Amino acid sequence: MANPFTLGVASGEPLPDGVVLWTRLAVDPLGADPRRPGGMAPRSVEVSWQLAEDERFTQGLRHGTAQALPVWAHSVHVRVAGLKAGTDYFYRFKAGGRQSAVGRTRTADDPASTRPVRFAVANCQRYEHGFYTAYRHLADERPDVVLHVGDYIYESRQSATVVRALGPLPGEASRLHEYRQRYARYKTDPDLQAAHAAAPWVPTWDDHEVLDNYRGRGDGSAAFLRRRGAAYQAYYENQPIRVRPEDGNLQMYRRRTYGTVADFLVLDARQHRDAVTMLGAAQEQWLLSRLVTSPVRWRVLVQPLFFARRFVPGPAPNLRADSWDGHPAQRARILGVHAPGLVVFSGDVHNAWAGELKADFLDPGSATVGVEFVGSAITSRPPETDGPAVLAANPHLRFFDDRRGYLSCTASLEELRVAFRGVDFVDRAGAPVRTVGEFVTKGSGLTSENASSK
Ligand SMILES: [Fe+2]
Repeated sequence: MANPFTLGVASGEPLPDGVVLWTRLAVDPLGADPRRPGGMAPRSVEVSWQLAEDERFTQGLRHGTAQALPVWAHSVHVRVAGLKAGTDYFYRFKAGGRQSAVGRTRTADDPASTRPVRFAVANCQRYEHGFYTAYRHLADERPDVVLHVGDYIYESRQSATVVRALGPLPGEASRLHEYRQRYARYKTDPDLQAAHAAAPWVPTWDDHEVLDNYRGRGDGSAAFLRRRGAAYQAYYENQPIRVRPEDGNLQMYRRRTYGTVADFLVLDARQHRDAVTMLGAAQEQWLLSRLVTSPVRWRVLVQPLFFARRFVPGPAPNLRADSWDGHPAQRARILGVHAPGLVVFSGDVHNAWAGELKADFLDPGSATVGVEFVGSAITSRPPETDGPAVLAANPHLRFFDDRRGYLSCTASLEELRVAFRGVDFVDRAGAPVRTVGEFVTKGSGLTSENASSK
């Protein structure tokens, strides 16, 4: 067999005693034949895996086998349990006489742990818009966990101007083999592979994993639900997640807890959305009860969309209906909990922002009930944005930067620190990275540190 590990390796969903190990076999990753995704013949392939506490696979070695099935595009999701909490592990796969790269992963901290948590946040990585240099720098930091807040792929037809071409199937993806091939295109990137091999990921999705600005069941047609089901299946096949799609649905909202320090409340802002709410009733109830009962220092919302009110001066519409400004009542109920240590991470807008969450956004004197950090894009081009004008019109927003990049964060019992990491260019490889803004919160407002401007 030709090398089947062209899409790299990944791990995810860390618990104190386990992780999911992932790979997907693809001897011809960009193969466009719907019956042979990744160029793989339609039969199952045995994949063996190893996991150990050292990179030479001598300490505490565990191993097993899994079947890579054609029905799941030859992906494997190995749920390893019985591991030590807060511990680094290394893993690799073997199939068809070939060996994969080695990945590093890490279990979540023990429930009693007070150890600081180092995490990164990334989003919006349109392939044809540039190089994933930011991911190379993120990988070098080897965080405990990487949170991805959506637009992992773009279903859209290839942009008119490209830094690098999508290759075969450049049209809009709407069928299973097209989504599969789109993931394969993205995952052949060595910097993205490095970021997956450096740390476990906890991803959630936004709209472009399916269709621009879709919500819930779309128009309710059988055709849309078929398309959504295909997109969800391809998502599962290409992410190191625990849960499989069933009947066209995929359970996405969940929590990942690190000791007494951080409760990452991962939200699904698309699948359950309707005309009235962003999250749907069941997910809101789950979130509100967790915000009340969570025993940790930081209650961290991990979700795709700009959460604070953001009034954009100029011609209407001044508020964006696809973001939380389209669902202010549900936002008010979440903020109304007054959960201590509330922090929101988001993305979607392709520029970096930071701000304070207010009990009443129209009253700058009202209580500050949390903070928000909006990550820029890994590559996706930003819309025309007059950052200074938006900052002036929204006193609770405190920071704007228009470079591509990611967030590098540390949560401890004392404080939560967020560095906005930016690269100056993505139209060619090799950009250095630097901190373009740094913020600290101790649980109420936001303090700026070491902010540098262009
Ligand atoms: Fe995006």
